[in-house]
Amino acid sequence: MFVNDCLNVNEKGHLTIGGCDTVELAKEYGTPLYILDENTIRNTCRSYVSSFQKFYNGNGMPLYASKALSCKELCRIANEENIGLDVVSGGEIYTAVQAGFPMEKTHFHGNNKTAQEISFAIDSKVGKFVVDNLYELELLNSIAKEKNVVVNISLRIKPGVDAHTHNFIRTGQIDSKFGFALETGEAFEAVKKALSYENLSLTELHCHIGSQIFDIDPFVTAAEIMVTFMGKIKNELDVTISELNLGGGFGIMYTSDDEPVPYENYMEKVSVAVKAKSAEFGLPVPYIYIEPGRSIVGEAGITLYTVGGRKEIPDIRTYVSIDGGMPDNVRYALYQSAYTVVNASKADKEPDELVTVAGKCCETGDLIQEHTKVANVEVGDTLAVLSTGAYNYSMASNYNRIPRPAMIMVKDGKSRVIIKRESYEDLVRNDV
Ligand code: LLP
Repeated sequence: MFVNDCLNVNEKGHLTIGGCDTVELAKEYGTPLYILDENTIRNTCRSYVSSFQKFYNGNGMPLYASKALSCKELCRIANEENIGLDVVSGGEIYTAVQAGFPMEKTHFHGNNKTAQEISFAIDSKVGKFVVDNLYELELLNSIAKEKNVVVNISLRIKPGVDAHTHNFIRTGQIDSKFGFALETGEAFEAVKKALSYENLSLTELHCHIGSQIFDIDPFVTAAEIMVTFMGKIKNELDVTISELNLGGGFGIMYTSDDEPVPYENYMEKVSVAVKAKSAEFGLPVPYIYIEPGRSIVGEAGITLYTVGGRKEIPDIRTYVSIDGGMPDNVRYALYQSAYTVVNASKADKEPDELVTVAGKCCETGDLIQEHTKVANVEVGDTLAVLSTGAYNYSMASNYNRIPRPAMIMVKDGKSRVIIKRESYEDLVRNDV
């Protein structure tokens, strides 16, 4: 009935998630409210782990890209599900450390890691640095030297694959701020340079072609290009790079127009390509990492809002105002992202009314969705926006000094807070 398996409708006609009545949850915890379904998250983690077992002799590990949603509970779940973490800032590293995450299973990304972050990451025993540029290579080596340690590194390569997704989230092409380009020879020079540093140990190559991608072919092409590059390194430098990180980007369902492929199919096809290319170049089959973010938490999450006023503009549109908006979900304002909106109070009714869901900020573009069909919306109804688990909380702001919502985790009819609602006091905490 819904795009997300964890959702259902109960005898009161209310939307449920993980066996909990969303209208009751809205009453108990207040709105706006982020909700995550634990079983969905764990099942997705397990399907990634089992796809490695099934198609690649277990010779690899998924890393959860915590930029999709970083909080201590997600780090704990990732650890319990035997997956690593992709972290992209000092803050994400700190979160993982605070959660007791085994830091050797983290990869540190970012196109401009500061000296302070690098130093903190080394002290926190981050497992691998995914180096983006020559300046970082030099800086990382000098900080590692000062600390008298050798750090494991990967190099972020732009494989030149053009994934078909939103312009802002395409990263594999040459005109991208991330990584070293293959076509220009920049990547090969970076490998030579990396090998020359005493305090760096190059064991991995990395690529990430973009996000919210449904087609498996570009992933396969990128994997083939990367192994071919590993072959060139072996032939010309007599160096074997033993690990390959293929990034994340697997698409999820926001509306019924989206058709994600089962995540298993990804490893099935990519492992065939990697094995074949490795054999072609006489390379050992590499250990593989992938970095799913959105697909681990996206469909597991929904956001609840309470409807305030309605504004009917004859022959134009009907605005329905909610008690949240771009501070908790900026994705429509930023990317015109499609979402499914459900009247959680009347989830058993046909979505027959065309409305524009507007946030409460002083900003015309503060919309969650335009011209979307929802069952007869009245003041006080609970609205649910589906598939908000990824890149909502993690991109949230305090615009208009609106406190960030709480996040709760539901599982088999039970709920618990995993991130507390911000208070007004939190908002002024750093004001002097
Ligand atoms: N690995 C790297 C190096 C990445 O840059 C990203 C996402 C991922 C993994 C995870 O990709 P995922 O599996 O989540 O697609 N804010 C945008 C998405 C930006 C993605 C940035 N990098 C959005 O809301 O759609």
